[in-house]
Amino acid sequence: MSWNGVIDHYRELIGLPSHAPVVTLLEGNTPLIPLPAVAKLLGKEVSLYAKFEGLNPTGSFKDRGMTVAISEAAGRKVQSVICASTGNTAASAAAYAARAGIKCIVLIPQGKVAMGKLAGAIAYGARVLQVEGSFDDALTMVVQISQKHSIALVNSLNPFRLEGQKTAAFEICDILGKAPDMFCLPVGNAGNITSYWMGFRQYHRLKKTGLPRILGVQAEGSAPLVLGHPVEKPETVATAIRIGKPARGEQALEAAQESGGKIIAVTDQTILDMQTMLATEGVWVEPASAAGLAGLLYEVRTNHLELDGQSVVTVCTGHGLKDPDIITRRAPSIPLLPPEIQALEKALLA
Ligand code: F0G
Repeated sequence: MSWNGVIDHYRELIGLPSHAPVVTLLEGNTPLIPLPAVAKLLGKEVSLYAKFEGLNPTGSFKDRGMTVAISEAAGRKVQSVICASTGNTAASAAAYAARAGIKCIVLIPQGKVAMGKLAGAIAYGARVLQVEGSFDDALTMVVQISQKHSIALVNSLNPFRLEGQKTAAFEICDILGKAPDMFCLPVGNAGNITSYWMGFRQYHRLKKTGLPRILGVQAEGSAPLVLGHPVEKPETVATAIRIGKPARGEQALEAAQESGGKIIAVTDQTILDMQTMLATEGVWVEPASAAGLAGLLYEVRTNHLELDGQSVVTVCTGHGLKDPDIITRRAPSIPLLPPEIQALEKALLA
């Protein structure tokens, strides 16, 4: 079967005006990769899968929402789009806008965007501006500018983003034949958890696929939904989710609660340990993408969460290539050898 992107595949389930052209890079249809080694740590006979969203065209889940948001904007003959971003939304918006021939402006927090994301936004030809402040400051600014001028907002406050992102829930149900028992993911601005819950409920209404319990995971230094109040100066190595005032925070809490799950926070070290563990199964993700599973393992180990015999899906939201520095700056220096076999032998046998 040929795959022509999420709008083509799920057209009748996505709210997109019929006159809008489809702007696609054939996103979606990402694999559900079994993780047998980590599964053993979660309980007996746990079926654990990573929905590897880092394999989308620009390397993150944002492409699912962006195909719909940019298609809708193109349908209105929008000339420019804008977003605030910790990086992945920026790269995705830039790519889809380029494809549609629309100008793209991205506003990023100074010094806090991983290299692979920034390079993406530049490569796809976006106008990149940085703000002396946080993602939350940048979001406030772009919301205001989009209300004042005819520049369309493509952050996940834009409902068309959610229409696209919910297709990942459909794909999971299509592959497993039902929703998983447990589902975990990182939470930043909270658009994705909101989208998944929309998607799982919509599919359940249509196809009786069941509903998962949802565990949303924030980083301890950026955990407004756990603390119950905004965080003025959020900090975490997982820069993608370095967000102190999530735009869809209320909906995220509702999604977790309605599903019988919750939102928790874990330390940066716990996130990095899970990033390493996932890599030992051949799945390299950026730090934020390891947070969901890091949180689930924490719940099993610390709060005695029982997962025996259950199916579990974790969303790996972005590819490891997005943030190579986090790996290389902690790695030992790489030995330099003269071009001689003896030197290689010595290094290997020493
Ligand atoms: N994981 C990654 C890799 C992300 O880039 C983001 C969000 C999230 C998780 C959290 O998703 O915001 O829907 O709760 N990145 C946004 C950006 C904020 O600008 O790229 P969320």
